[in-house]
Amino acid sequence: MQIMLSPTVALTETELLEIRNQFPVLTRLVHGKPLVYLDNGATTQKPQCVIDSIRDYYSRYNANIHRGVHQLSQEASVAYEAVRGIVQTFIGAASPETIVFTKGTTDGVNLVAQSYLRARLSAGDEVLITGMEHHSNIVPWQQVCEATGAVLRVVPVLDDGSLDEAAFQQLLADKTKFVAFTHVSNSLGTINRAKELIALAHAKHIPVLLDGAQAVPHICVNVRELDADFYVFSGHKIYGPTGIGVLYAKPEFMAQMSPYQGGGGIIKTVTFEKTTYVDGPLKFEAGTPNIEGTIALGRAIQLMEEIGVERIAEHEHDLLTYATAQLTSIAGLRIIGTSAHKAAVISFVVEGIHPFDLGTILDQQGVAVRTGHHCTQPLMARFGVQGTVRASFAVYNTKQEIDVLIQAIHKAIKMLS
Ligand code: ALA
Repeated sequence: MQIMLSPTVALTETELLEIRNQFPVLTRLVHGKPLVYLDNGATTQKPQCVIDSIRDYYSRYNANIHRGVHQLSQEASVAYEAVRGIVQTFIGAASPETIVFTKGTTDGVNLVAQSYLRARLSAGDEVLITGMEHHSNIVPWQQVCEATGAVLRVVPVLDDGSLDEAAFQQLLADKTKFVAFTHVSNSLGTINRAKELIALAHAKHIPVLLDGAQAVPHICVNVRELDADFYVFSGHKIYGPTGIGVLYAKPEFMAQMSPYQGGGGIIKTVTFEKTTYVDGPLKFEAGTPNIEGTIALGRAIQLMEEIGVERIAEHEHDLLTYATAQLTSIAGLRIIGTSAHKAAVISFVVEGIHPFDLGTILDQQGVAVRTGHHCTQPLMARFGVQGTVRASFAVYNTKQEIDVLIQAIHKAIKMLS
């Protein structure tokens, strides 16, 4: 079924119900209670059209791509390659040739670290990241720094969870060879002023990678407006399957990258003496890729576009505002990350209650949230907490579900205090 939505900005109750009806899991009970799924930052639920797309691939045209003249292989190859164009439009890229399919955000960051940066770093060079990065945007840079003698520098985070932009500017030095930072923080929800920060780096001719894992689900992204050199994100956080992600690279940067994984599908010629590679994104997709995942990612993006990415952003922003007001009224609860520019992610701690205990009681009431350090241990240390409880919203969430969350927190506080 294709959802037909009106072009007005706010989603109506009927539209929201139609959207929810697309997600089969939302009707299930958890511990006898209706599921309230607020762990979308970790992964989103999947709509029927994505599930059907995977079934359709395996039922009708399962074949390897770019390797066969037979009909099934042709159909699979066409469907796979079409998704490059869908992603191109979704993020405002110049051409499908700028889109590399990866396993996910982590894979994309590692690809750039190894295939672009490693060969360009020398001892004493610097790589600049921020204090609010996910481990996947820390460790790959740390690894290339360790291998080359380069130094990892970190821009501090202010008390409200926004980036210390003055420090960012100061830390951009002659030795800085690369900058990588998150577009939207997975733990705090902070939306970084990516365009302005990229412009500062570019003024010093420093290339920039943006981690868009938590941005593409919640805000409209245009890589050319941002002027990002590299942009990475995951499919499973935008209603697509796990194990599929995207690396966008400007053509001039992609042309400078050498594949760090060798294998089939990426070569022009192979002899025992030498291998030559194909041009463009296929050069970085060695081996049989996640064909069904790629095709289903295309379907997920189409669904977001049918609903309207701006309308999704608007709806989630309403939920964020509503939830923030409700949570703020709970005595002893502290929101970590109160920047004026936030996407639909709220982290909080409750005085005297361990986040795991709170998360467990919420789960007993059907409410799924993430607890812990959210793969941002340095950020947790910055705020002096071991972990937080995190509620993160998606297009199918409702204000009624936030009411359930709030009641569940009250109940948990009563039980655990
Ligand atoms: N990066 C994902 C999260 O923030 C897994 O939960």
